[in-house]
Amino acid sequence: MKFTKPLSILLKESEESGDHALKRTLNGFNLVALGIGAIIGAGLFSLTGIAAAENAGPAVTISFIIAAVGCTFAALCYAEFASMIPVAGSAYTYSYATMGEVVAWIIGWDLVLEYALGAATVSVSWSSYLVKFLSNIGINFPYEISHAPVDSMTLADGTVISGIINLPAIFIVFALSLLLIKGTKESAFMNALLVALKVAVVLVFIAVGWNYINPENYHPYIPQNTGEWGHFGWSGILRGAAVVFFAYIGFDAVSTAAQESKNPKKDMPIGILGSLIISTILYIVFAYVMTGLANYTDFKGSAAPVAVAIANTPYAWLQQTIIFAILAGFTSVMLVMLLGQSRIFYSMSKDGLLPKVFSSVHPKFHTPYKNNLFFAVFTSLLAGFVNISDLGHMVSIGTLFAFVLVSIGIIIMRKRMPDAPRTFRTPLVPLVPILGILVCVSMMLSLPVVTWIRLFVWMGLGFIIYFTYGIKHSKIRKAEAEKKD
Ligand code: ALA
Repeated sequence: MKFTKPLSILLKESEESGDHALKRTLNGFNLVALGIGAIIGAGLFSLTGIAAAENAGPAVTISFIIAAVGCTFAALCYAEFASMIPVAGSAYTYSYATMGEVVAWIIGWDLVLEYALGAATVSVSWSSYLVKFLSNIGINFPYEISHAPVDSMTLADGTVISGIINLPAIFIVFALSLLLIKGTKESAFMNALLVALKVAVVLVFIAVGWNYINPENYHPYIPQNTGEWGHFGWSGILRGAAVVFFAYIGFDAVSTAAQESKNPKKDMPIGILGSLIISTILYIVFAYVMTGLANYTDFKGSAAPVAVAIANTPYAWLQQTIIFAILAGFTSVMLVMLLGQSRIFYSMSKDGLLPKVFSSVHPKFHTPYKNNLFFAVFTSLLAGFVNISDLGHMVSIGTLFAFVLVSIGIIIMRKRMPDAPRTFRTPLVPLVPILGILVCVSMMLSLPVVTWIRLFVWMGLGFIIYFTYGIKHSKIRKAEAEKKD
């Protein structure tokens, strides 16, 4: 028997009011801002350089377009779900309503890869930009304590130094987790400020850089494949798409704010699709300017490629301002991700699938503090010791997998609940979800084998926990069992 959470119960939960309910304060504009707040971050400011240097060269712009297409299909599916089931919990809740508990568990467990590992990835990037910021003002933060053990660098005299631990990354994860515990919620106003700052940086970079593009850097636009799959040529563009896909992650986080939206049925689709469209346009132009300013080979090994690109303009003095804005921008991404993570585990714990400790709330701050602390430790261990590209790949595969399941969910829901009210309908079902599945699966397939192995290990661990704990404590299962007795 499949255990699904009835839509009526979900909608009732979403309509809860009172002191313990989330307040409905966000309008469509705020939701678009929230989406951009979660979207623009390390993917654009760090991974663009890595994908250009290692996979696609200047054709990283094409990678951005392919990734955007996949995301648009998925976003259309998210928009229908969010307008129909406007509750916090996002993809986990949608699948509980449509595909049953086992799939809901799979997706909830998988979302750790998106949110916790996503926050870890951004923190590593944050650390690189902080080190750069400090070195520009004459403070040299030692390489060994700002990099993971797998990272190494060759000095001018040929000596190789290796990282030991990434302390700044650990610091920022802990600092933000403590903020979340204290209940310091990003207000819509604060978020709008950070978003304005981030978007301004992107626009300034484009405007300033445009005049200093060296057309030679675009030749060849698609560097020849090295003989290895994923290293330049068209396979490189595809792998580049899977890498920069990370840059789009976050539009789905809008759906976790459904319970804080004034008019979720109308505004959720606006927030999800609006933030994705704006980011897509900015990304493509940004990547074009960046690979025009410096040769793609110059980005190799640099986690702060914007600085590399800006150094090729007479505006090197702009660097510090831009880096500062980037640091602020990353901060909002990490906050949303850490918050999203705690909400998903909170919902899973409320449903009985995870121990109560994940939903126990602090008596004074009213936040799931143990949950936040757990993820502060988990995320900072990854941030401190794992290399950014391994982390980024895991986040991409995990999120793509979630998108595939959400797309399948739409097809199932149209069959099972054709008449349930929804204000937004994904166009051309089942074509759009099927195309979404195909693009997302091909991006997944273009990721390294080791990433797949890690995904299987992670999901295997999840199954062990589900079958030894979740299945026995599930509230829906208990309720069904009681009905039978
Ligand atoms: N899209 C977010 C970023 O690039 C996760 O940082």
